[in-house]
Amino acid sequence: MSTAAAKSVAARRSGALQGRLRVPGDKSISHRALIFGALAVGETRIEGLLEGEDVLNTGQAMRAMGAGVEQTGAGAWRVQGVGVGGLAQPANTLDFGNSGTGCRLVMGAVAGCPITATFDGDASLRKRPMRRILDPLREMGARVVVEADGGRLPITLAGARDAIPIVYTTPVPSAQVKSAVLLAGLGAPGTTTVIEREATRDHTEKLLRHFGADIRSEPEGPHGRRISLVGQPELKPAPVTVPADPSSAAFPMVAALLVPGSEVILDAVMTNPLRTGLFTTLREMGAVIEPLDIRDVGEEVADLRVRASVLRGVEVPAARAPSMIDEYPILAVAAAFAEGTTRMRGLKELRVKESDRLAATAAMLRANGVTVDIDGDDLIVEGRGRAPGGGLVATHMDHRIAMAALVMGLASDRPVAVDDAAFIATSFPGFVELMRGLGGELS
Ligand code: S3P
Repeated sequence: MSTAAAKSVAARRSGALQGRLRVPGDKSISHRALIFGALAVGETRIEGLLEGEDVLNTGQAMRAMGAGVEQTGAGAWRVQGVGVGGLAQPANTLDFGNSGTGCRLVMGAVAGCPITATFDGDASLRKRPMRRILDPLREMGARVVVEADGGRLPITLAGARDAIPIVYTTPVPSAQVKSAVLLAGLGAPGTTTVIEREATRDHTEKLLRHFGADIRSEPEGPHGRRISLVGQPELKPAPVTVPADPSSAAFPMVAALLVPGSEVILDAVMTNPLRTGLFTTLREMGAVIEPLDIRDVGEEVADLRVRASVLRGVEVPAARAPSMIDEYPILAVAAAFAEGTTRMRGLKELRVKESDRLAATAAMLRANGVTVDIDGDDLIVEGRGRAPGGGLVATHMDHRIAMAALVMGLASDRPVAVDDAAFIATSFPGFVELMRGLGGELS
């Protein structure tokens, strides 16, 4: 990715967006389906896998450690697992490109096996903090052989033959940290427990149960969870249907809310409550988002009908952040088009995403004439019912900044351009074409 040519794209004010579409498969579940499939004994079939660069890199890593990972059709994949503890030492560095999730989860898997692996990624991933993962993995018996400055990539990790089962309270709300500890716990003789003060996405817990692990999750305090996993299970292959990614659906959803006269139906979007903080917030702002057909595919999904809506500014509580952590750039765009002030509280974790997303979001809005302020860890957007546009947005290797800026351009007075749309392919291949299919003017 880092060597690919930058691809500038611009979006301009468009007529009403119309149509029905399915956004690609959920990124979090796609990574996990490949990893757990590789740790099961036998063949797992996956439908609807996100074939974005991030997930393909995870598939490549599992292949490099001995699993069979093979595409059998569009979104259809077959994983031949090697069993818990069965990962082979990779011959070369594992390259996770832009993906923190792939890298951190696979670190957990490696930590629970007696192998040594080197992890690396692009310039964005090399800046991201890895100590939050390495600290608990060290406690579990893994050894950090090499690390760059401040616990950054490239990192060489030596896993433990019998990992030590621990009780770990995550210092930040992070599904990646929780998942890495549980993945390492698969190799431990005994029960590994993760306590989180604020519940984060629970796909790891659900999928581990689906693959036959003995895992329990109970409430802990007002917003938290206590998750206990019995180690050294034999995971059994189980089919996985990946629902459409709510974090990707967020972009055409907000576009349909902002472009006057629009009506769009988004098919089979996952509505797991630990992922839908954005939908709750948009509804509080006055958005018309109706679920049409709620069903269960291992996760709850619904077709969502979205109509152009008049929005008003709201306060978004800090406690909601874990359920919409990836959605603040696009919420900030919606807030610019609302009437009144929107204050989004408690966004510290945004500073360590694919970019410093708090700064990048504020800069994106400012470049397009929107009044915005950062106050401590809060983002404050002054909504004026419209946005002037006309800016060139620096995406900082961040797919979500690129997509949020382009959605803004579909409704702003003047076009909005992004310096590099290439990173959109990490999570939402086909985004530009799909938005064009709805009637969006992107070039
Ligand atoms: C993810 C967890 C979140 C999120 C990321 C995907 C996951 O990161 O931002 O896009 O699949 O576990 P953190 O765990 O760092 O909050």
